[in-house]
This record gives sequence, C-alpha cells and structure tokens, in this order.
Amino acid sequence: MEAYSAIMSIAHEIKHARRTVALTGAGISAESGLGTFRGKDGLWSKYDPAVVASIESFKRDPRKFWEFAREIGWIFLTAKPNAAHIALAELEVMKRLDSVITQNVDGLHQRAGSKRVIEIHGNAGRIICTRCLAEYATEKIVDRIAREDVPRCDRCGGSLKPDVILFGEPLPKRAFDQALKKVRSADLLIAVGTSLEVYPAASLPEIAKKSGAKIVSIDSERTGWDDLCDYKVSGPAGEVLPRIVQAIRITF
Ligand code: APR
Repeated sequence: MEAYSAIMSIAHEIKHARRTVALTGAGISAESGLGTFRGKDGLWSKYDPAVVASIESFKRDPRKFWEFAREIGWIFLTAKPNAAHIALAELEVMKRLDSVITQNVDGLHQRAGSKRVIEIHGNAGRIICTRCLAEYATEKIVDRIAREDVPRCDRCGGSLKPDVILFGEPLPKRAFDQALKKVRSADLLIAVGTSLEVYPAASLPEIAKKSGAKIVSIDSERTGWDDLCDYKVSGPAGEVLPRIVQAIRITF
C-alpha cells in the first residue's frame, strides 16, 4: 500500500479506535541524534552488548559499562524531542492516543509533553546505587560520572548504575504489567522505530493482535515482523507521524 493511502487509512483507524496504544523503540529517537542499536551503523555493530550492556558483565566489572556510557551517554542529556515524539504527544492531547509504551531510556516522550508513558526499559535520567538503592538525578552527578571510573554512592560507597535494564535483567514488573494490560485492551497498536528483536517487549504486538487489535508499523526499513502488520509505512517517523496527525485534523 503506498504511503499516502496508508497514512489516510491509519488516520481513519485512529479516529475510530476505542483505544490506541503506541509502542516505540530507538528509531523514534534517531532524528534526535540518538543512535539505534541494530542495523549496519547500530551501536551493537561497534560495541559487544554482552560486554558493555549485560548485568552479568556489570556485576563482574562495572568499568566496561561506564566507559561505554561515557562514550555514548552525553547525547542523552542534550537530545531534544523530534517531530515524531511531538506528534504522539499531540495525539494524546487530541484524546486519540491512550498511552505510549517505550523501550527507550531517553525520556524524550515526556519532554515532548506525553503524560502517559510506560518505560519498560527504565530511564537513563535516574542513577541508582546497586547496594543501598539510593537514587540520584543523572544531570546532578555528570561531573562525577566524567571523573570516576565507576561512580560510587555517597551514602554506602556502592557502585552506581543508571536505572536502565541491561541484558539479563528482568524488566520492571509494574511497568511491564501495565504494558501488558494496555496492549490487551487496545484495538489499535502503533509500533514506531523498533526492530522487535528483544523480548519480552517484542511479544507485545503479537499479544495485542491475539487480543483483536490492528497493528500499524512505522519504520524506515523493512522489519522481521512486517507480516504481522495490518498497515506499514516505510519512512522516517519524524515525517510520517506528523502527516498522520495532520490527516486526522483535516479529514475526519
Ligand atoms: N524512523 C523510523 N524508524 C527508524 C528510524 C527513523 N528515523 N531510524 C531507524 N529506524 C528503525 C530501524 O529500521 C529499526 O527497525 O528503528 C528500528 C530500531 O531498532 P533497534 O535498533 O533494534 O532498536 P529497538 O527495537 O528499540 O531495540 C530494542 O534492544 O538493545 C536493546 O535495550 C535496547 O531498548 C533496546 C532494545
């Protein structure tokens, strides 16, 4: 289906849906300058996730994680929401979007104005002590992160770790239970910029489909799960999502 008619059909579906839920991945933040993980220029083509982003490796030697975090992390603090984040926030204001389930840890949905965001992989804006669970705002301790191999807790000296889910860690139970509840009660799921290769997040569209929802994919590439979709628009989310919002505004 060519893009224009797919966009019009998706706008129509959103307009007539009882509950629309969005599921986002790294691709929605690509136009904000944040790298995606997979694909030829993805972070995992430069770094080994088992070494720099697994809980096992973190427990063994957190320095490797922090080296990686220092190399890629600063952009998180300065990145701005793009037109795709803003379009989803507008759909929420228009009462056309129930909530955003995100795999991203960048907080850009909230910065774009979205109020109902479910973060299933945590948020890099928070740092937690792995021993006493003391919590720090990342922006408050950037100097220490820059200076110390492994930033330590003021209170107990334990090693600090961003409140993000590393490979091998369970997802935050409350957030994932909320996400499951949302996709089971949705009649339309819009997945944006995710390759859906990481479980259990990758199971959400299938669960939604089994619960009777229609599935929309907005991705700049073909993904391994396109066949599950009722609608697919290939293009940058920052171009496609505003066009869908525009179509809802002017046509229905
Ligand atoms: N607009 C839309 N889609 C895009 C854009 C864009 N501008 N740029 C890239 N994409 C698409 C890619 O084609 C790809 O399908 O975004 C997807 C990004 O996929 P991944 O890099 O695999 O990211 P994601 O699906 O979010 O990864 C899931 O894996 O590494 C872990 O914890 C990490 O949350 C992450 C999880």
